[in-house]
Amino acid sequence: MIGEKLYRFEIIDSTNRYVLENHNLLHSGDVVIALEQTNGRGRGGKKWHSPRGGLWFSVVFKPKSIKDLNFYTKLSSVSVVQVLRSIKVPAYLRWPNDVYSHGKKLAGILTEGIFDGETPLVIAVGIGMNVNNHIPDEIKHLATSIRELRSREFPVDEILSLILKKMRSNWKKYKLSKGALTRLWKRMLDIKEGQKIEFQGDDATVYKILPDRLLIKTKKGFEEIASTHQLYG
Ligand code: BTN
Repeated sequence: MIGEKLYRFEIIDSTNRYVLENHNLLHSGDVVIALEQTNGRGRGGKKWHSPRGGLWFSVVFKPKSIKDLNFYTKLSSVSVVQVLRSIKVPAYLRWPNDVYSHGKKLAGILTEGIFDGETPLVIAVGIGMNVNNHIPDEIKHLATSIRELRSREFPVDEILSLILKKMRSNWKKYKLSKGALTRLWKRMLDIKEGQKIEFQGDDATVYKILPDRLLIKTKKGFEEIASTHQLYG
């Protein structure tokens, strides 16, 4: 069950790294959380600033198929948005799974996995959320925190348990109806099919939002953008 067992660290380099390296000792649904990360990992090889006061954790999943990766990332991003909305933070998703509020990033999700050929041995869905932590001046125009949005501190543990509870109920609800989860995820996105966007400095249209990629119509033809995960062999 998601969140049945919690591994707590005061300080760690990265909870995702811990899950991937210790997957033999961990079970599906286990959660690894840290008060502070010294080498938090973000998407695209970026560093994820993770000081005290924020919520930094990874959920372990041991799915049967590589196809399930998208399901677990969506399960997490949708649950995070629902919990934020329930505490009156107007959150939405910036494609594919970045959590935004009022045009600024509030939380991010990094799904990493280890594979034996096509078979996943483990996936770590890492969730990072700015709760009460200080946002450095140089990224203040890009990122925000719950404290900033609600003008008060929020108990990090309470937000964690709300997210884990929501992930459990969504898992039960959507495990056999993945299409319904995709539809819910699409409604939370900040882009819609048919919307005009700028793509590589040119006008383009969002043609189709597929579960794992975006189909964009440009002057030159169609372009596909994959919502990639970090995979290790
Ligand atoms: C992003 O770039 O938007 C994803 C950020 C994911 C950060 C979280 S914090 C917990 C987990 N451990 C990590 O090292 N990264 C993820």
